[in-house]
Amino acid sequence: MEVKTSLLDNMIGVGDMVLLEPLSEDSFLDNLKKRFDHSEIYTYIGSVVISMNPYRSLPIYTPEKVEEYRNRNFYELSPHIYALADEAYRSLRDQDKDQCILITGESGAGKTEASKLVMSYVAAVCGKGHEVNKVKEQLLQSNPVLEAFGNAKTVRNDNSSRFGKYMDIEFDFKGDPLGGVISNYLLEKSRVVKQPRGERNFHVFYQLLSGASDDTLRKLKLDRDFSKYNYLSLDSAAVNGLDDAANFRTVRNAMQIVGFMEDEVQSVLELVAAVLKLGNIEFKPESRCNGTDESRVKDKNDLKEMCELLGIEQSVLERAFSYRTVEAKMEKVSTTLNVAQAYYARDALAKNLYSRLFSWLVTRINESIQAQTKARHKVMGVLDIYGFEIFENGDNSFEQFIINYCNEKLQQIFIELTLREEQEEYVREGIEWTNIEYFNNAIICDLIENNQNGILAMLDEECLRPGTVTDETFLDKLNTICADHQHFESRLNKNSKFLNDHSLPHNCFRIQHYAGKVLYRVEGFVDKNNDLLYRDLSQAMYKANHSLIKQLFPEGNPAKVNLKRPPTAGFQFRASVGTLMRNLQTKNPNYIRCIKPNDKKASHIFTDSLVCHQVRYLGLMENVRVRRAGYAFRQPYEPCLERYKMLCKRTWPHWKGPAREGVEVLMADLQIPAEEIAYGRSKIFIRNPRTLFFLEEKRKQCLQDLATLIQKIYRGWKCRTHFLLMKKSQIVVAAWYRRYAQQKKYRNIKSATTVVQSYTRGWQARKLLRELKYQKRCEEAVTTIAAFWHGTQARRELRRLKEEARRKHAVALIWAYWQGLKVRREYRKFFRANAGKKIYDFTIQRIIQKYFLGLKSNMPSMSPIDKKWPARPYGFLDGVHTELRKIFHHWRCKKYRDQFTEEKKAVYEEKLEASEIFKGKKALYPSSVSQPFKGDYLEISKNPKYQKLNSAVDEKVLLADVVNKINRANGKGTPRIFLLTKKNFVLADQKTGQVKASIPLPDVTSVSVSTQKDGFFALKLKEGSASAVKGDFLLSSEHLIEIITKLHRIGATAADREKLKVDISDEFLVQFKQDKVCVKFIQSSPKNGNSVSCKRKNNRLLEVSVPTSP
Ligand SMILES: Nc1ncnc2c1ncn2[C@@H]1O[C@H](COP(=O)(O)OP(=O)(O)O)[C@@H](O)[C@H]1O
Ligand SMILES: [Mg+2]
Repeated sequence: MEVKTSLLDNMIGVGDMVLLEPLSEDSFLDNLKKRFDHSEIYTYIGSVVISMNPYRSLPIYTPEKVEEYRNRNFYELSPHIYALADEAYRSLRDQDKDQCILITGESGAGKTEASKLVMSYVAAVCGKGHEVNKVKEQLLQSNPVLEAFGNAKTVRNDNSSRFGKYMDIEFDFKGDPLGGVISNYLLEKSRVVKQPRGERNFHVFYQLLSGASDDTLRKLKLDRDFSKYNYLSLDSAAVNGLDDAANFRTVRNAMQIVGFMEDEVQSVLELVAAVLKLGNIEFKPESRCNGTDESRVKDKNDLKEMCELLGIEQSVLERAFSYRTVEAKMEKVSTTLNVAQAYYARDALAKNLYSRLFSWLVTRINESIQAQTKARHKVMGVLDIYGFEIFENGDNSFEQFIINYCNEKLQQIFIELTLREEQEEYVREGIEWTNIEYFNNAIICDLIENNQNGILAMLDEECLRPGTVTDETFLDKLNTICADHQHFESRLNKNSKFLNDHSLPHNCFRIQHYAGKVLYRVEGFVDKNNDLLYRDLSQAMYKANHSLIKQLFPEGNPAKVNLKRPPTAGFQFRASVGTLMRNLQTKNPNYIRCIKPNDKKASHIFTDSLVCHQVRYLGLMENVRVRRAGYAFRQPYEPCLERYKMLCKRTWPHWKGPAREGVEVLMADLQIPAEEIAYGRSKIFIRNPRTLFFLEEKRKQCLQDLATLIQKIYRGWKCRTHFLLMKKSQIVVAAWYRRYAQQKKYRNIKSATTVVQSYTRGWQARKLLRELKYQKRCEEAVTTIAAFWHGTQARRELRRLKEEARRKHAVALIWAYWQGLKVRREYRKFFRANAGKKIYDFTIQRIIQKYFLGLKSNMPSMSPIDKKWPARPYGFLDGVHTELRKIFHHWRCKKYRDQFTEEKKAVYEEKLEASEIFKGKKALYPSSVSQPFKGDYLEISKNPKYQKLNSAVDEKVLLADVVNKINRANGKGTPRIFLLTKKNFVLADQKTGQVKASIPLPDVTSVSVSTQKDGFFALKLKEGSASAVKGDFLLSSEHLIEIITKLHRIGATAADREKLKVDISDEFLVQFKQDKVCVKFIQSSPKNGNSVSCKRKNNRLLEVSVPTSP
């Protein structure tokens, strides 16, 4: 649902000044201030929008805002420039009415911003599409170009437009933009040559020098340094927040979008450069022979460069700066220029060059943006022009005069159009037209523009008049001609009224404009109006070899010499204002009045005096008055009824009939005086704002009552529903609680009952138990007594029976003995002969049988070392038992032996022999039992090292081992290989394998060893044999037992020899060559080392110490 709103809702102050009550300058300012303080920068006067410059960006220009204001009625929302733009655009599109938007205000008040806002709004809401967008873009991009050339930093505004601009935007029947036409007014060209303090020249100069590439600058013969150019003020060359270099790029880009050719841009820049160069040309006086001073160019370099830039012949221009040719009726008179005149000529040229360039730019832009179709189109004009300008101290000059004249004209059409519109509306609505009292400023316009005696006409007359013409003569003229005019004031007036008015200086005149009195200083009026450029200069320009320059100075064409003076500035302006006014008059006007709140460009500051001043000269009070002349407020019936229907019982809540009748009933009910209201065809008209506020006030109260009512009902409803809900909840809670309480109580009673019950039952049970126990005890007592009694009875009986039985047994025994005695006596002789022996034999047989069977099942294992044997059962079997054991053992040893191979048998035989020789005789023996007799420890046949040795013995080697041969001199051992064959033994060198001694076995008579654990043995040789020459051998070996056993065996098996004798004793003699040495074995403690050591004690004694084993 669309929310119906109204301008009257949430108003801060009043949104429309027409509603101001009472209307006075103070209340007007208060209202503006109040709204400004709340960031409400827009306020209406009827359909006029007052815009205060906020000097900060406000969030009220977003796309959402555009949508909010789009297609809404003007008074529907709070005041906004978009509302005005929308209204204008819609009546242009839908009602086919051409529109113009007139934006006025002093410099820095926000006119240019406002015009851009209007254009951007229209661009946002109008149609879209490729072509349309291109047109839009071109229209919007014309702004940066014109701003670069036409705007400058001033003390009031960093981006002040120094020209008036009117732009017609053309639309097709659908409301899509087709193109536009721009008109420019009154460029402030004096700025080109001189700028007031704190201000700058036009932006383009700075932009060019900061933003152009080095290459471009070289081509233009320019230097980046601002200080090199006389025309550029250095005061504020750099402006905060203004990036000249970036803007230069923007401008070039905009020029491209608008449609400037590259060479056109270049030409434009050349002209800009030429103006800068021109400013640097300086003159010096040169005395001539006739005594007059003539000017000469001081430094020709700048002149030369400028001429090169523009393609002008240097001499031509130089001459034009020194001479002036006046042509009159076929006569040419040439006069020289003095230095002052030369400077004047130079500046005039610069100003003209620049202003003409600016006009050319406008024309060129127009060429690009003009509508392409000739079809009929609708037009929206946007006028951005100075408002009234009043400088303090009467510093107002020709420019202010012209501007104020323009504003006077605008006010005139404002009055005309507003009244006309008012009148038309009255006629449309069928309301009687009552004459409206207002001030008509036609009389002031007449004072200025009247063809015969208007001020402008007289200025022109003065300028064209031959003879000396000065500003003073002009003022004199005014004094005579305008003396009687009500709005003209002058000190030298015949009218004696001002003779003593000291606020009015002699060289000034004052005009009472509709917006206030303005004091003008006549100085410069004539010159500025003449706007003279010497013909020599324009001709020099025309001669330039530069297409653009040529175009700009068409009057320099010698073929078209026009002796008539060019039209004066005043004349031209009056003409263009005339055209503008005629143009505006055909259109529906929309006004935006811009006001700046302070002089500091600061947000949030509202300077009363400054605003008051502007309100005055913008004629805003006058606006309100005109607007309120008839009826201050009007509204269609439907919204009116909708808004106020609650004020009357008959229309509330619904009125069934036509809206107009409803409103009539309503007004009658409210007793509004008849003269206060008029009923039109579709609208009600309210004469006085007071009445409207009365209605609003009533409505507000009523709304409050209604709100209270709604609130009351709502609260009642809310409380009731809440109460009901609470009540329902309470019942539920109570029910649950009761249930819980009852359950708890029940459980308590139940458990109490159980306790009581259990006590009772316990008591009963105990009672019963007691009774039962008593009963049982009684029974037991009875039983015990009975038992005792029966016991006594039984024992008595038993004793009796035993006595009886004993007696019976004794009788039987005696009887049996007696019978036995009798039988034995009878059969004794038969029994002794047979039965005794038989019983004995049988018994023995049985016993032996049992013994053998038991032995069979208890046989020990077949292992010969198993010592187990079953125990004998009877002593008489002792001998048999031992014998059987022996037989079994022999039998199983035989079984064991039967399994042996021949080699094993030999080994065992050797082992057996070793045991026979050493067992119990030498302590070394037990440790040798478990060692197998390997024989060949050196693997002599396989080892290649002993190949030679192996071949030296021809018998089979029975034993090969390394032994130590003990040296008799010191008792030390030398390792030797010991080989034993069947026939001999061989001692050989261990390393080389060389045979040291080979002894046939028959030469060995005996072997001596100790009883201890050592491996020493002495081989004694047969005295007188060949081998015995060197003496006996004392050797030691780890395999002593094996070596001696083997030696012994060989001796035992050989048939031809005696048995080898083995002596075992701890002291024996050894024959070394001639001497006999005693070898003695002693036991030593193991502390001295674990090895056997042999030491020579003296010539006859070798002592071997053998450690005892631990
Ligand atoms: N509606 C606005 N919102 C924000 N700032 C504004 C607005 N209107 C004007 N201004 C500020 O004021 C400055 C002067 O405005 P401008 O339109 O150039 O003044 P004028 O054209 O009247 O001389 C702008 O540069 C801008 O900073
Ligand atoms: Mg401006």
